Amino acid sequence: MVQNQLDQEVRMGWQLNLCFTLLLVFISLSWGQESSSEDERPSCHHCDLHLLCNCSYGGFTCVPMVTESALTLDLSFNNITVVRDDDLTDHTLLRVLNLQGNRLAVIHPSAFDPLWSLEALDLSENQLTALNNKWFTKLGALQKLNLLNNPYSCLGSPPVFQGLIRLRKLALGGPALTELKKGDLSGVTQLEELTVHANNLTRYESGTLAAIWPLGHVSLSLHEPFLTNIALASTVLRDVSYPETPITLEDLHLAGNLFIQPIEEMAKRRVRHMTFRNLSLSDGSIVNLLVALNGSPLASLSVYGATLMGHGRWEKANWTDHKNIDEFFVKNAVVLDVFQFVSFLQLKFLLHYPRKVSLINSKVFVMPCDTSRLLVNLQYLDMSDNLLTDMTVEETLCNGDGSLKDLRVLNISGNALKSLSTMSRLVQRLYKLTHLDISRTDYSSMPQQCSWPSTLRHLNISGAKLITITPCLPTTVQVLDLSYNDLKAFTLALPDLLELYLSGNKFLRLPPGWLFPNLQTLTIQSNTLNMFGRSDLQSFGRLQNLQSGQNKFVCSCDFVAFFQSGLKEGGDVHLTDGEESYVCDSPLYLQGQQVGQVHLSIAECHRVLFVSVSCVIALFVGTVVCVLLWRLHAFWYLKMMCAWLKAKRGSRRRHQLRDDVSSEALLSYDAFVSYSERDASWVENFLVPELENPGETSEDSINPSYSYRPLNLCLHKRDFLPGQWIVDNIMSAMERSRRTVFILSENFVQSDWCRYELDFSHFWLFDGQSGKDAAILILLEPLSKDDVPKRFCKLRKLMSSTTYLEWPQEEERRGEFWRSLRSALRVEDD
Ligand SMILES: *[C@@H]1O[C@H](CO)[C@@H](O)[C@H](O)[C@H]1NC(C)=O
Ligand SMILES: *[C@@H]1O[C@H](CO)[C@@H](O)[C@H](O)[C@H]1NC(C)=O
Ligand SMILES: *[C@@H]1O[C@H](CO)[C@@H](O)[C@H](O)[C@H]1NC(C)=O
Ligand SMILES: *[C@@H]1O[C@H](CO)[C@@H](O)[C@H](O)[C@H]1NC(C)=O
Ligand SMILES: *[C@@H]1O[C@H](CO)[C@@H](O)[C@H](O)[C@H]1NC(C)=O
Ligand SMILES: *[C@@H]1O[C@H](CO)[C@@H](O)[C@H](O)[C@H]1NC(C)=O
Ligand SMILES: *[C@@H]1O[C@H](CO)[C@@H](O)[C@H](O)[C@H]1NC(C)=O
Repeated sequence: MVQNQLDQEVRMGWQLNLCFTLLLVFISLSWGQESSSEDERPSCHHCDLHLLCNCSYGGFTCVPMVTESALTLDLSFNNITVVRDDDLTDHTLLRVLNLQGNRLAVIHPSAFDPLWSLEALDLSENQLTALNNKWFTKLGALQKLNLLNNPYSCLGSPPVFQGLIRLRKLALGGPALTELKKGDLSGVTQLEELTVHANNLTRYESGTLAAIWPLGHVSLSLHEPFLTNIALASTVLRDVSYPETPITLEDLHLAGNLFIQPIEEMAKRRVRHMTFRNLSLSDGSIVNLLVALNGSPLASLSVYGATLMGHGRWEKANWTDHKNIDEFFVKNAVVLDVFQFVSFLQLKFLLHYPRKVSLINSKVFVMPCDTSRLLVNLQYLDMSDNLLTDMTVEETLCNGDGSLKDLRVLNISGNALKSLSTMSRLVQRLYKLTHLDISRTDYSSMPQQCSWPSTLRHLNISGAKLITITPCLPTTVQVLDLSYNDLKAFTLALPDLLELYLSGNKFLRLPPGWLFPNLQTLTIQSNTLNMFGRSDLQSFGRLQNLQSGQNKFVCSCDFVAFFQSGLKEGGDVHLTDGEESYVCDSPLYLQGQQVGQVHLSIAECHRVLFVSVSCVIALFVGTVVCVLLWRLHAFWYLKMMCAWLKAKRGSRRRHQLRDDVSSEALLSYDAFVSYSERDASWVENFLVPELENPGETSEDSINPSYSYRPLNLCLHKRDFLPGQWIVDNIMSAMERSRRTVFILSENFVQSDWCRYELDFSHFWLFDGQSGKDAAILILLEPLSKDDVPKRFCKLRKLMSSTTYLEWPQEEERRGEFWRSLRSALRVEDD
């Protein structure tokens, strides 16, 4: 029982323990998670030289750490949901912050407080359901604020923009914006640009936007109000309409005649520049529009993106007055029923006035001549990016009969034109034409002769398929664009030319400058230029700006030197496209390097000079070395070495040969006498008789009791085998002699052979075959160690280590000399 209870207690203790441990683990886990989300704030290092940190599309879910010196921080299109209090501390230098396209729902009230240098803030396309005036209180430098497309329905109070005294560009609103109240925009004055997306606006207090003045440009989206609440639309437009404020209206679907009121409101307030974006309308609504604008001071009407649902029957408005209209601009228009569309024949009331008409990218395939004739004031016609052909252009320009007589600029780029001679004929009688843009067409060849109006100054035939140029080009032209063709050479003189564009062709070198005595700007990027030099540029008398990057430069020494010294440091010609676009294409090891940064060595650049200088230096060094070697007797040492090695080999062979014979038997001489040829007389007259034939000399007869054994001497003259190499002879003579006697004299020192002998004896000595006293030195004349040249170190060593016998000059001391010599030679006998 007791035991049981105890067991239970123990078990409970265990369980408690377990719970506690689990709790601990859980706490530490959750704490760890917290700390990891705190500490492991990701960082973004995509910063460039201008301190622009582009962290867009980085997948960040919170504001990443970025260097605090950043000036621009682009965090757009991430998944950031919250900007915390301390996310942007230290960013006091930040000028631009872009948080567009995140999922921002929460911004801490003081999150932007440190950003007092901030000039541009983009919070568009997020999930902000309410705006907080505290966000912006410290942003005194802010000039540009974008709050578009967030789900807030009103701006809220207190007024959010109160502190933004420098604000110049403001964008607000979105699909959810339903209400704008008076005072919402208090604090905002003087705007350059105001954008309001209010497609779903249902409540607007008159005067809300009127407080903003002056107002540079207004862009409004008022889709629903235009359809359902025309009074509201009128009120809004009345509040922003001023004669000098261009107004852009977006996303309108104009149907019926309901919408007239707001347009009339604008006309009444004398708006002069009106732009529609993303507009759809019918014939009826166009007539209504024209009626609404009757007599208005409207000067320019632009439409970007229009869908026309009618057939072009607008003549019902033929009574209206549009004489103030100066410019019609239409781009990206779509005519739904293009085959039913009638020409603008009845539109004289409209077409009579404008000076500028643009009909761009709208699938226009012809403008009938009759319509052209209505455009009597036309000075500027842009029909680029349409479906015109040579034939329909002929119609449009009335077969070149000089209609459109005031035309100054004609732009029909981006059409399927093929015949340049047709074009020149059509414009020939446009006597005021100065600009002709026929770029991005299909011209592939040039006729030999063309006739252009003499006023033509700007001609653009870029992006065609020209292979060569001919005298067809007008000689009066001042600006000529022939880029992106297939040209290889330029051979035509154009005396008036100021600017020439030749990028994207196949030029291998610059065109000759003398063709263009007045040229100031030359653009010839992305060709196959290899190089150019000072003389090339000097041939252009007046060239100031050159753009010639992205070519296949050969980084030769001349070019690199010219580029780095002549061009970079501001000569007469200025490289306007930046040094970094000049990159070496060859040689291979320099490929990809900037021409301005390349360093070529002297060896590469002055090869001939380099080679000749190195030869001279090598020759000089060689000579010096030879002289030095000669001075240091190196050749002598070499010869010695050689002989010594040879002799040593020979001696080893002989040793092997006589291994079996007793060495004593081989010693056939008592002494080998080494002497200089010039001391031969002494040897023959004194030494040989005295030692080989003792008793025959007078001295010895004085003491007949003392008889000497005749010694057997080895003399090279007498005992050397003829035909054998002399060194071998000497070696074997030494080996076969007990002793070597050196007769030292000045003569000996000067005789090379004697030196060899000496050295061999030395070798013999230290090979240890014959004991220490194998050498006997006899000095024929007083000769101190210092008289021996230093390089005969072995002789000097021998002289200091071995006692030597001096040949006395006095007759009476010679007996003693011979005795000493004999005893020295006989040591072994004893
Ligand atoms: C950042 O990069 C994106 C493309 O990744 C680009 O669209 C955007 O313009 C860049 N932002 C800046 C400020 O240059
Ligand atoms: C954001 O998150 C969503 C899902 O949560 C994901 O589909 C999307 O790719 C993310 N966007 C980026 C830029 O990481
Ligand atoms: C306008 O508001 C209605 C309802 O208030 C909504 O259904 C619609 O999506 C909104 N329009 C846009 C373009 O968001
Ligand atoms: C153009 O406006 C219509 C409403 O008229 C809108 O539904 C559409 O999304 C807009 N298109 C663009 C590209 O903004
Ligand atoms: C306007 O057009 C009508 C026919 O639609 C015509 O009867 C009338 O004369 C025209 N008025 C003017 C001023 O051209
Ligand atoms: C002609 O139109 C093209 C494309 O719209 C444009 O790039 C070019 O500048 C225009 N040329 C002139 C002379 O206005
Ligand atoms: C010539 O036309 C092209 C394409 O239309 C354009 O990009 C270029 O700027 C034009 N050249 C000049 C000198 O205006």
